[in-house]
Amino acid sequence: MKKTTAAITAVGGYVPDFVLSNKVLETMVDTNDEWITTRTGIKERRILKEENAGTSFMAIKAAEDLLHKRGIEASEIDFVLVATATPDLPVASTAAYVASEIGAVNAFAYDLQAACSSFLYGMSTAASYIESGRYKKVLVIGADKMSSIIDYTDRTTCIIFGDGAGAVLFEPNEEGLGLQDEYLRSDGIGRQFLKIDAGGSILPASEETVKNKQHYVYQDGKSVFKFAVSNMADVSALIMERNNLTKDDVQWLAPHQANKRIIDATANRMGVEADKVLINIDRYGNTTSATLPLLLYDFEKQLKKGDNIIFAAFGGGFTWGSIYLKWAYNS
Ligand code: UT7
Repeated sequence: MKKTTAAITAVGGYVPDFVLSNKVLETMVDTNDEWITTRTGIKERRILKEENAGTSFMAIKAAEDLLHKRGIEASEIDFVLVATATPDLPVASTAAYVASEIGAVNAFAYDLQAACSSFLYGMSTAASYIESGRYKKVLVIGADKMSSIIDYTDRTTCIIFGDGAGAVLFEPNEEGLGLQDEYLRSDGIGRQFLKIDAGGSILPASEETVKNKQHYVYQDGKSVFKFAVSNMADVSALIMERNNLTKDDVQWLAPHQANKRIIDATANRMGVEADKVLINIDRYGNTTSATLPLLLYDFEKQLKKGDNIIFAAFGGGFTWGSIYLKWAYNS
């Protein structure tokens, strides 16, 4: 009997209108466009300015865009997964709210948090549900309002992150397209290098934690960079090797958009030419869980049925990994 695979059959996306450029950041902190561009590849990022709007605001827009493009009713969705590091509320599931708002009345929903690897891990979860035959339509949304956890007086982090959301639909495929292989890793040693200290169960919010700015992202950039460069390159090379893929067999590298230098190192290690590397970090910065689906959203028209795509991500935790997927449609 032929194995059922899990393929991406539609993509949606949303980024806020407000553009925060390097030039404007120069007026906010001690930085400059040249430093940001050469060290990260970022020129501008989007910031969600709507009042009382959280991550779900963008997730809903991305999901609605996807449903419209795919031409299906939300009631057909079986499961809604929201990959995010910035849920609307610390406890209530953002995914449950998103599912209800888009009208996915027959779905169950939950969030997945693995920092910048959330969407990558979410693809694995979605594919497993489809491959098992248990569900037919799984919506995975990667969404983050990073501006809600960034200190805009800290030049080491505020130049990096942005807000956005992207969504993909996974469905069964009988032609062998979709997710082919995955290699997912984690190492708790990483949490000292990239974290938010307060607001969790170790250090609940207090006047003191607010005063000490402990609710913002802290990153030891140099250390994270070192781990990210070697690990993202390693897993991408490994997944090519164990699937007998040469550089000519790979049509696209879809890497997490944290730093252009990390992306280049990964592509070099794989031997993949620059024109095969999907990049939008210059326009959005690091949108955490939204980087991978926003790449698919931006480059969807260039992706062809049967194309081999290698996804790679690295994030807080540490969490990282790589996924090999065959694209399933022409748009
Ligand atoms: O997505 C989740 C995973 N995250 C990542 O993968 C991020 C990994 N890390 C990075 O991308 C980079 O480490 C950063 C972009 C965060 C920083 O780049 P770097 O080349 O590692 O810079 P650095 O931290 O080593 O700092 C070099 C210098 C320092 O000055 P001194 O000590 O040499 O005088 C910093 O104080 O650059 C200074 N600096 C800045 N200068 C201008 C740090 N931030 C800025 C800034 N503008 N925004």
